[in-house]
Amino acid sequence: MSLLEVKNLSVEFDTPDGQVRAVQDVSFSLGEQKTLAIVGESGSGKSQTAFSIMGLLASNGRVTGSVKFDGTEILNASEKVMNTYRAAQIAMIFQDPMTSLNPFVRVSKQMAEVLMLHKGLSKTDAIKDSIRMLDAVKIPDPARRVHMYPHEFSGGMRQRVMIAMSLLCHPRLVIADEPTTALDVTVQAQIMDLLSDLQNDFGMSIVLITHDLGVVKGSCENTLVLYGGRVMETGPTSELFAEPTHPYTRGLLHAVPRLESNEAKLATIPGNPPNMQHPPKGCAFSPRCGYANDRCIAEKPRLEQFAADRSRTCHLSSEEFA
Ligand SMILES: Nc1ncnc2c1ncn2[C@@H]1O[C@H](COP(=O)(O)OP(=O)(O)OP(=O)(O)O)[C@@H](O)[C@H]1O
Ligand SMILES: [Mg+2]
Repeated sequence: MSLLEVKNLSVEFDTPDGQVRAVQDVSFSLGEQKTLAIVGESGSGKSQTAFSIMGLLASNGRVTGSVKFDGTEILNASEKVMNTYRAAQIAMIFQDPMTSLNPFVRVSKQMAEVLMLHKGLSKTDAIKDSIRMLDAVKIPDPARRVHMYPHEFSGGMRQRVMIAMSLLCHPRLVIADEPTTALDVTVQAQIMDLLSDLQNDFGMSIVLITHDLGVVKGSCENTLVLYGGRVMETGPTSELFAEPTHPYTRGLLHAVPRLESNEAKLATIPGNPPNMQHPPKGCAFSPRCGYANDRCIAEKPRLEQFAADRSRTCHLSSEEFA
């Protein structure tokens, strides 16, 4: 059985200007100790997918479908039930550490409170555990630094504090929403290495959300490509990189900077992501797809499985955009 099983997840927001369909019919599953990357450009529905799983959707949002954690349905569960899952079973790492760290409270207090609340530890034990976890995320001199304020850490160190905080209760699933976007490339690589070391040590499953395919390659078994709130393509990362079967995935791969390449200009996909209030009638990617035909513009393709672990949402055959 999968640890996380998401089926036909759809998210809609009511806004004064009408309905926004942010996520549509997204399905995936994740096994124990596995890592899934969710990749897509800004606005593709990555964060709202994560928030729906955590039960953290904004109040103007509605979510339908199914999210099973270890076999139990948790979608639209009560706050009381979700509080037993959050931190203890499922933890989230946010893009900007300052959204979840309180700048006015010492790290020791913020970390200890999580352990006192969820694990019933005494304050002394909670601080001891917090120091141990800061050590695990390779913060030097953790016994001293635990008493510092968040702003006294550098950006990279702050992200480590966030990771330490999310792992305090040894959750079985960690959802990392662009955990390295705000950091420079060297620190990004360090944080990604750290996450995979921690995964080996603690045995958690990871959903890694990113718009950067470059960080996915070495660290995630499977990848799901989102565009306009829909799954465009999904499969084992190695296969998806070697043989993308969707023009959008191919475009994303071309946009990954290659160190060995001498090309001065990075290839980008022309055009902008769709306005989710007025999405295109046919394939969401059709306005930007160099291969789109009349059918792509008029009719929405469905997600279809074409090999054991691979699915794609595209009217064209791979040969048509080779
Ligand atoms: N509370 C809200 N009300 C209305 N629309 C919303 C709300 N929250 C998100 N959206 C819309 O939902 C869509 C998906 O947003 P989401 O945050 O999931 O994007 P994302 O893929 O995480 O992008 P990014 O890479 O920029 O973080 C966007 O079009 C966004 O504007
Ligand atoms: Mg986001």
